[in-house]
Amino acid sequence: MRERGTYLPHVKRADAACEASREAPLRVAQCKQGYGIALGYKGFGYKLQKRNDMKAVAKGRHRAKRNLARVRTNGAAKLPRAEKDGVAATGDFDLRCGYVPFARQLEFRNSVAKYRLFGGAAGPGKTNALLFEAIRQAHLYGNEKPVDTLLLRRTFPELEASLVAYFRRDVPRDCYASYNDSKHIVTWLNGSTTRFGHCAHENDIYQYQGAEYLFIGIDELTHFTLKMWQFLTSRNRCPAPNSVPCMAGATNPGNIGHAWVKALWIDRRAPAGMDRPDQYDAKDYAFTRATLKDNPIYADDAQYRRTLEALPTHLRRAFLDGEWDVFAGQYFDVFDRARHTPRAEEIPFEPWWPRWLSIDWGFEHPSAVLWHTASPNGTVITYREFVQNHLSPRMLAAAIAERSAGERISSVYLSPDAFAQRTADDTIAAQLGRGLELEGLPRPDPADDDRVGGWMLMYELLAQDRWIVTQNCAGLIESLPVLTRDEANIEDVLKYEGDDVADAARYGLKSRMEPGRMPLALRNAERITAVDATSRAIWMRKLEAEARRGAGTHGVPAPRRWRL
Ligand SMILES: Nc1ncnc2c1ncn2[C@@H]1O[C@H](COP(=O)(O)OP(=O)(O)O)[C@@H](O)[C@H]1O
Ligand SMILES: [Mg+2]
Repeated sequence: MRERGTYLPHVKRADAACEASREAPLRVAQCKQGYGIALGYKGFGYKLQKRNDMKAVAKGRHRAKRNLARVRTNGAAKLPRAEKDGVAATGDFDLRCGYVPFARQLEFRNSVAKYRLFGGAAGPGKTNALLFEAIRQAHLYGNEKPVDTLLLRRTFPELEASLVAYFRRDVPRDCYASYNDSKHIVTWLNGSTTRFGHCAHENDIYQYQGAEYLFIGIDELTHFTLKMWQFLTSRNRCPAPNSVPCMAGATNPGNIGHAWVKALWIDRRAPAGMDRPDQYDAKDYAFTRATLKDNPIYADDAQYRRTLEALPTHLRRAFLDGEWDVFAGQYFDVFDRARHTPRAEEIPFEPWWPRWLSIDWGFEHPSAVLWHTASPNGTVITYREFVQNHLSPRMLAAAIAERSAGERISSVYLSPDAFAQRTADDTIAAQLGRGLELEGLPRPDPADDDRVGGWMLMYELLAQDRWIVTQNCAGLIESLPVLTRDEANIEDVLKYEGDDVADAARYGLKSRMEPGRMPLALRNAERITAVDATSRAIWMRKLEAEARRGAGTHGVPAPRRWRL
């Protein structure tokens, strides 16, 4: 197998040495390691001979002449691929497009990991590096068989303004055979292609179902979901002999995909929601971290630097230094590990402090349980967590009891959906409640599910140092900094795979400290005693109609358990 980039320096020298025009029949150049001879026609394929092997030179010369004749009669698209030494061609491309990779871009290019990430600050040349990587890959293995490559951005306007714009600006017309403007597909001179694509909605990703791509590059990877990434990995294969399919992302920290991208490349572990997490192999993932300093154009631009330095602290840390713990769109930008996450041993727990639990129920998704207490000065301390999926309500109750041994728990707040969700003839809440009661713990109350109010309360408590989370609550500490604002509802937090433990925290704080009014559906559910589904549905509709008329709710006492 050919090693990537082995011949690149020689080829560059060869190219620089010969000012051959497109029409020049042959090019001969001297390499450091003896004579290297570049044969062929600029743009139409040439081959670098490593040694001064006259037989090979003659063969190459013959092929080059034949190719020129073919190009003249059929056009460049019909050029046989066998002539193209991809590595050499790439060197050619870089020079012809005026692309001389910066040191950090070269580091990214030279990484041989299956999944690469070029991440960090704004402006080090991540998008550009990705574009030229796709071009390089399209020429690396196209010798025997043309290969397809794909470059993606989440939305079409973003795609046009970045990757497509750079392609139009930087890649000269004579470097490719054609560009299909409506399909956004470039066909290179060796027949390989690069497709510029986007997928605004999660299901748009299936438009790539039928295809195979040797290389898939995703710009602003954190705008994509883990599901999209996983699907694309299944499209990353190539029938060309000796080819090594690979993928790469370029991104700033932040946004919806922040958590899974950070898990795969920064924390080096399988993210929540990953299919077959046991198959995660850290060796497949390589991260090239770049900061603004890595792009000399911007590093020397005092004006641009000043603009970035004027940003609020957390954005500055993300955009200037490529910090992964802070980023634009982050909800809990006040969360500071140093300030909010003491070690449990530092807390002088007293047995008489009030203690309560909050639970976000899940079966396929994990159930997340948090234990909270409040010190006499009113600081809430979340001091234990338990997160696990595939536990029945009974098993969950037993696991909670085991961990609460010797503690007096005053209340348990459970996600409201568990009061509506039924298995056999009972709700999850009732089954869990029986289990907890058997263990001497209180039955659960429906948690206050006011999302916006809950997140705001958590934010305020953190800002005022009135809520701390002990270091053993690893899941919660990990998820708080990655929660982002929902652009559709800027006051809310965007849901993401793995946010269960943050939801549990919200239930625990909001239900205890600022209990709101129970949602109508829940209030009604508690008032209906009928067990069979049809009667329940009839009653539910009746009560909803009453509520709409504004009648019927008078005189009905609020459920006992809702009162604190
Ligand atoms: N190797 C390079 N040589 C010259 N200009 C470059 C190089 N890499 C990037 N640039 C230019 O720097 C600017 C920022 O690059 P870009 O790829 O958009 O950065 P990022 O995606 O990291 O924000 C662009 O105008 C780009 O063309
Ligand atoms: Mg970019």
